[in-house]
Amino acid sequence: MNQSLVAKGSVIFLKAIKGLLIIVGSSLWLCACGASPKASQTPHLFAPAAAIAAGNALYQHTCAYCHGTNGQGGVRFNAPRLWGPGNVVQTGVFNSEDALAAFIKRAMPAQAVNGVNPGGLTEIQAHQVAQYILSKNRG
Ligand code: HEC
Repeated sequence: MNQSLVAKGSVIFLKAIKGLLIIVGSSLWLCACGASPKASQTPHLFAPAAAIAAGNALYQHTCAYCHGTNGQGGVRFNAPRLWGPGNVVQTGVFNSEDALAAFIKRAMPAQAVNGVNPGGLTEIQAHQVAQYILSKNRG
């Protein structure tokens, strides 16, 4: 075997290794994508109209007392504006459905309203109200 053949052989060998690495690398990437928990958040962004309608009814029943029927805030207890210009939802830390619903579940209504105690909404109801508020902020 002469020198150039040896050189050619090692170039081919290196190319084969590189190809293998690319294949292994991209399949790892695909695996990571499939297992990503982000998938659970995506559907909330395209909430069905029924969830938003239920959230609207819950909002008017439980939240409007302080935050106003149009989310304008300031009706009672200095409750902040929830949608429209300068609202606390878009600019604050509760600007995703999961974060907003968790806050509502834990802390709202601030006081019992129409028979609903603070933190008295179910998890699903808290998500519906959050979807309603976020739909207002997207519009
Ligand atoms: C009894 C009055 C009252 C009711 C009813 C009420 N809130 Fe509030 N809410 C407040 C007050 C006061 C604040 C400001 C203090 C705070 O953040 O805890 C507030 C703050 C908030 C915030 C902003 C949190 C932040 O820090 O950015 C959100 C979002 C919110 N309320 C959602 C709701 C929703 C949804 C409902 C109905 C399920 C509701 N509130 C019912 C009084 C109320």
